[in-house]
Amino acid sequence: MKVLVSDKLAENGLRILEKENGIEVDVKTGLAPEELKAIIGAYDAIIIRSSTQLTEDVLAATKRLKVIGRAGIGLDNVDIPAATKKGIIVMNTPQGNNIAAAEHTLSMMLACARKIPQATASLKSGKWKKSQFMGVEVYNKTLGIIGTGNIGSIVANRAQGLKMRVVAYDPFISEERAQQLGIELLSLDDVFARADFITVHTPLVKETRNLINKEGFQKMKDGVIIVNCARGGIINERDLYDAIVSGKVGGAALDVFEVEPATDNPLFGLSQVVVTPHLGASTGEAQRNVAEAIARQIIEYLLHQTILNAVNVPAVSPEVLERIGPYLTLAENLGGFLAQVCSFRIEEIDIELHGELLEKDTEPIILSTLKGLLTPIMGDDVNFVNARIMAQQRAIKIREAKVKDTGDFTTLLVLKVRGKEAEHAVWGTLFGKKEPRIVRYDDFIIEAIPEGEIILVKNIDRPGVIGNIGMTLGKRGVNIATMQFGRDKLGGEAISLLHLDSTLDDKTIKALTDLPNIESVQSISL
Ligand code: NAD
Ligand code: MLT
Repeated sequence: MKVLVSDKLAENGLRILEKENGIEVDVKTGLAPEELKAIIGAYDAIIIRSSTQLTEDVLAATKRLKVIGRAGIGLDNVDIPAATKKGIIVMNTPQGNNIAAAEHTLSMMLACARKIPQATASLKSGKWKKSQFMGVEVYNKTLGIIGTGNIGSIVANRAQGLKMRVVAYDPFISEERAQQLGIELLSLDDVFARADFITVHTPLVKETRNLINKEGFQKMKDGVIIVNCARGGIINERDLYDAIVSGKVGGAALDVFEVEPATDNPLFGLSQVVVTPHLGASTGEAQRNVAEAIARQIIEYLLHQTILNAVNVPAVSPEVLERIGPYLTLAENLGGFLAQVCSFRIEEIDIELHGELLEKDTEPIILSTLKGLLTPIMGDDVNFVNARIMAQQRAIKIREAKVKDTGDFTTLLVLKVRGKEAEHAVWGTLFGKKEPRIVRYDDFIIEAIPEGEIILVKNIDRPGVIGNIGMTLGKRGVNIATMQFGRDKLGGEAISLLHLDSTLDDKTIKALTDLPNIESVQSISL
């Protein structure tokens, strides 16, 4: 396994990868996009921070990349849909630097309120200008927080310690969560109208780009102080500039910018603006936290296939995996079974979860089913990450249903696939909570293990059929490990499911198909 570290990573992360786990690591920072494209094909994982740009073009050059690990939070430098299409997991470390970023936010707000950077620069230049640096207090003032996730909620807590009233806008958090945080949830316009200080803590996405603009500034109190330690672009810089020059906004504290690195931003010319060069996460503690977290997450995935903190696939922690692992195997193998018995183009799949399955985390089970179904059709490029997209690309309709009734079983997974000409269905369960079993295929009740080399024979229920199959395989040196039968009625249609010790060649399949009373023979590899 080879890992590329393309942005600076704290030493402890490298030690965990190389020394503790024997992973081969190359540290190559500051690569131009063309240089990165030229080498990325050789790596199984890449660890980045905010500098490396993983665009669609760069990702197109990956050959064996399985995972992108962001030591930090923001992923605006990664084309996540492009990574997902290629089946690459994208993960970050949401907890590692949130204290650092929240503390930086509070520091910037206070620095701006009390003009500390301006006063420092003035005094160091030999001037003693006490009257020039009159500030404002935060005590008893209202702080408006936009986005109360990891960092916003810590900012709320620390601001309450400073005896500020905290109001917030976040359409995705519940009233209950707001109560836990002791904050008042308002509309965006009401936050604008009520706050003396406004700080943003959302991701930069389509919906949050220019979230604070000219119209927003007009709705704010005169002299409001604006803080952005999240992402440049959430606040429109041109409009902020105008609002400060007009006196509407009293000051701004900015750690992040629309274009970074930022060295000649017009806002730097305004005395009311305090700035830092994207230092939110720049503490020794935060850098060690994110380096350790991403190194361990990458190892968990590369060595144990455990997915943690992924943004493009549901998390499957070791605990969840232990609980649902056997269901994932069942789902993948039932999907694989159906794909191989279908001689028609699959247009729809119904995935029915019955009984105990309803209490499980069902999304990984659905993804495993799709992965199993699509791999025989599309090859090994299909994985947990891109299974849904691959199904969409093939215009396969997916219907998911949760059903309480389980008949004779405590839990059942039922898959039904349909094409223009035909349809097939398979019912599966777990015996003893771990052993996968097919318990029904189309109209046939059967009990078979969905694993290994299998042949599915459809025949007319007549004496001698099984003996003929045994003799034909025996003559060709193919050993039968197990054999199960099912039939719809005496003398009607029957199926036999045989587990073999080896794969059948085309000639043997033909020989079996030519036997009397045989309707079809299908070879299935699970
Ligand atoms: P998070 O995902 O935990 O929280 C984001 C919050 O924003 C969520 O509660 C979400 O509901 C809310 N949100 C999303 N869209 C919204 C919208 N349209 N309006 C209002 N709220 C919305 O993220 P986090 O870990 O708290 O990080 C917040 C930001 O801080 C991110 O942009 C991240 O990249 C940035 N960050 C910057 C630094 C730095 O060095 N300056 C360090 C760490 C994180
Ligand atoms: C982040 O999103 O984690 C921050 O921008 C910090 C960084 O890695 O520079």
